[in-house]
Amino acid sequence: MPGARITGWGTAVPDKVVTNTDLSLRLDTSDEWITERTGIKERHIGGTTSELAIAAGRAALARAGVTPADIDVLVLATTTPDAVVPGTSATVQDGLGIAGGAMDLNAACSGFVYGLVTAHGLIMAGARRVLLIGSETLSRITDWDDRTLAVLVGDGAGAVVLEATDGPSQLLGWHLGADGSLRHLLRCEHGGHLWMNGKEIFRHAVRAVLESSLTALERAGFGPDDVDLFVPHQANARIITAAAARLGITEDRYVMTIDRYGNTSSASIPLALAHAAETDRLHLGDIVLLSGFGGGMTWASAVLRWDA
Ligand code: UT7
Repeated sequence: MPGARITGWGTAVPDKVVTNTDLSLRLDTSDEWITERTGIKERHIGGTTSELAIAAGRAALARAGVTPADIDVLVLATTTPDAVVPGTSATVQDGLGIAGGAMDLNAACSGFVYGLVTAHGLIMAGARRVLLIGSETLSRITDWDDRTLAVLVGDGAGAVVLEATDGPSQLLGWHLGADGSLRHLLRCEHGGHLWMNGKEIFRHAVRAVLESSLTALERAGFGPDDVDLFVPHQANARIITAAAARLGITEDRYVMTIDRYGNTSSASIPLALAHAAETDRLHLGDIVLLSGFGGGMTWASAVLRWDA
């Protein structure tokens, strides 16, 4: 069976930057509160999910050195589609000129890791190249008068190209989980605004990241000490440091980008992964642990041997 490997990546964020100070001018909040409780300093706001996805997808294709005609399947992870119908992946397929199929995947903030496992499965089933994008415009479902959520969200997109290889697959282990009995903790009805029980999500998130990461690592035949780089979903700096501490992963071995992007849901892991690649924190052969969690609730972890 063919293996799969990531051969390119790309990101896109809107030009407009909103700082904590900007928010504190119109909401009862402060840079101090937001920084201490979340680690966020600023976020990018604007655009549509398809526009950001197209820009990130184009960058990933260019880096991989492949054309849209080479892509067999586009998987778009998003929880903020441009419309209910059609799937936003159709707009992205058209915008990029992708020759193959296109589908949306909604697993909230776990979407990118769910998509990564799906993409590996598609390649094992015979696809030669898959473009996987996580793209979000959470700002469009946020009530900007609600300080509890307005300070958290950001917009952006990250993409990777996965290609079939004759060598071993880079995906060494994975774990996908869900508990729909917790779906009331984070939700947005049609035409409504995002609502979240932050404290409860926080509590479940640390445990979900820990247990899911350990399961994926165990399936790969590894433990936390083998992880060269931990790339977690960026929802709150305190969740990341708590989960990393329980895994025994020190600060030099995890990626934190929440300060500049806020919570970008399914875009957060590919944005953090690209940041790591571009700041020389990813090296050939590194063991990389990705772990996400979010509405549903869902959670997902993947262990990769980096060979991009
Ligand atoms: O992407 C996946 C899903 N999302 C998450 O993973 C988010 C998980 N949860 C969190 O990150 C945190 O729970 C939050 C950042 C949302 C909130 O932090 P917290 O430490 O749990 O604060 P809290 O909700 O307990 O609020 C503490 C206080 C409250 O005031 P009182 O009741 O103590 O007087 C809030 O009203 O802070 C107040 N508060 C604020 N103050 C200033 C809430 N939001 C703000 C704000 N600025 N923006």
